[in-house]
Amino acid sequence: MTQQTTDGQKDRVVLAYSGGLDTSVCIKWLQEQHNLDVIAVVGDVGQEHDGLEEVKAKALRTGAIECLVVDMREAFAEEYLTRAMAANSLYENKYPLVSALSRPLITKHLVDAAHAYGAKYVAHGCTGKGNDQVRFETSIMALDPDLEIIAPVREWDFNTRPQEMEWAAKHGIEVPTTNKKPYSIDDNLWGRAIECGVLEDPWNEPPDDIYTMTIDPADAPDEPTVVEVSFEQGVPCALDGKKMSYLDIILEMNKIAGGNGYGRLDLIENRLVGVKSRECYEVPGALALIEAHKALEDLCLERNVLHYKLGIEQEWARLVYNGLWFSPLKEALDAFLAHTQQCVTGTVRLRFYKGNLAVTGRKSDFSLYNYELATYDEADAFDHAAAKGFIDLHALTTKVWSQNRRAQGAQSAQFAAVEGTADEFTA
Ligand code: ARG
Repeated sequence: MTQQTTDGQKDRVVLAYSGGLDTSVCIKWLQEQHNLDVIAVVGDVGQEHDGLEEVKAKALRTGAIECLVVDMREAFAEEYLTRAMAANSLYENKYPLVSALSRPLITKHLVDAAHAYGAKYVAHGCTGKGNDQVRFETSIMALDPDLEIIAPVREWDFNTRPQEMEWAAKHGIEVPTTNKKPYSIDDNLWGRAIECGVLEDPWNEPPDDIYTMTIDPADAPDEPTVVEVSFEQGVPCALDGKKMSYLDIILEMNKIAGGNGYGRLDLIENRLVGVKSRECYEVPGALALIEAHKALEDLCLERNVLHYKLGIEQEWARLVYNGLWFSPLKEALDAFLAHTQQCVTGTVRLRFYKGNLAVTGRKSDFSLYNYELATYDEADAFDHAAAKGFIDLHALTTKVWSQNRRAQGAQSAQFAAVEGTADEFTA
């Protein structure tokens, strides 16, 4: 495992570092088992933290030769969450891809750091059972196929956390003394993912202490909160008429929606590696903005585009979930999605109330809603007479089919379809 040095200098590895036990142990592991100098990269993607300077200090204390703290929030919103918004991205129609979206961005910085520091290796602290390892490694291979990947957590054989803590303590790594919540958490601007502990039994109700972004809907205000979200070409650009950056809108929506108890998910999800897992999420801002965006698209997108786009959205979410952010199909779908967003400009009114969200209004200069066509009042401009011929032709193939089945002795066309025993009629 040990890497050879050429000129007496050690080879270098760039490690995705969070400050937690696993990635701290990774620093020492990479030094001791691989004889590498470690450059830690800490990404600020909007996760909860008590100060990333302290995380950096810890990386250095643990033995990293350098630690870069990178504020990725703006880029996360502008380059990643804009595309996620265009795709209304929900894996399996439910999960807004919180972790899946941050991994490629973090990986981009790992690869950049590897180039800047002349590192041959990139490492991450993911387990061998999850999606995140796939996302990191697939993205690394896409961005620089020459870099080598090390996944220490897949190498070491600590079976339990106490074993890992013992190794850590023996190697002078600061071991958390406070009894950390027994969950595995990953969070960013787009929400929080919570798994493990009691959540591993899908029948257990999620305990209240897993939540930090949302309040219990039962404790939510008795008055609804109404907010108007404006979009410019599919990207949120204002709240209640006040121009704001997308990043600030997400932060604000997390507060508004979370403060109304909106945005909790409890679901069973299919991981790429073949495991069904029980996942709890808090995604107040993400879900609210996606709902608003969909409502505006309903108004602005032509029917065929809207319908076709639904399939593209599912495929996009599946690709990104599966770690294929940097891949040719995903990029081609981005081009399609970007094209559809040209006229998704307008405003949607949202009403939050005790854990619920309702869209109560939408308007746009690009609205394809035509009052004269839709109204049942005297302004009605719809050609009612044209409907007859339209339906006659629309139903024609079905009518011919029905006539044939009846001629062949079926009591009704429906009977033939349900029984499906074609030979009864061909005998
Ligand atoms: N299941 C989610 C996903 O694959 C969340 C994973 C987040 N990781 C964690 N340590 N909770 O995107």
